Amino acid sequence: MSEHEFTIRRLNHTDLPRVIAIERRAFPSPWSLGMFVLELSKPSGVCLTAMRDGEMLGYVICARYDEAYHVMNIAVDPDHRRRGVARALLDAVLDAAGHQTPYTLEVRVSNAGAIALYESFGFRSVGTRRRYYADNGEDALIMWRADGEPWEA
Ligand SMILES: CC(C)(COP(=O)(O)OP(=O)(O)OC[C@H]1O[C@@H](n2cnc3c(N)ncnc32)[C@H](O)[C@@H]1OP(=O)(O)O)[C@@H](O)C(=O)NCCC(=O)NCCS
Repeated sequence: MSEHEFTIRRLNHTDLPRVIAIERRAFPSPWSLGMFVLELSKPSGVCLTAMRDGEMLGYVICARYDEAYHVMNIAVDPDHRRRGVARALLDAVLDAAGHQTPYTLEVRVSNAGAIALYESFGFRSVGTRRRYYADNGEDALIMWRADGEPWEA
């Protein structure tokens, strides 16, 4: 699948049942519906989905905080991975929120695939949060992408 075979658009509330279905397949401790509703309610957030022929392939949730945009959640349906969907979603986040603005995220230290994805976008590890994930006590890697110009609020 090339990126031309799917489209990226803003996520809306009517998409949430399909988001939840992917979320439950993607994470050991999936977000609740309420968490997605909260993020969609933030006007400064960037919440996008990749769609093909009416089918949701994946989504990304990015929230704006004082210091940086925070990539809160990104997931691709297991049947559609390694075809550039996450890369296209992150490209679209950068297009929407700015290529030069700072971004941060947390990722499980064991999640080598996601870490490779983020590193390919210029995210770098700056430390860990000990036992950040309640389900298994795993540490989170803290990553920042801040190679561009200083943040201008
Ligand atoms: C991480 C995730 C979003 C990647 O989605 P994807 O659409 O498969 O990623 P892409 O196809 O866009 O991959 C882009 C690049 O990221 C890296 N990458 C992605 N998945 C990888 C994997 N499993 N192993 C190694 N590298 C990987 C590769 O460099 C890849 O480029 P390549 O395919 O040309 O080698 C997806 O695996 C997923 O939903 N995982 C479960 C949820 C999750 O862990 N989210 C991140 C939470 S922090």
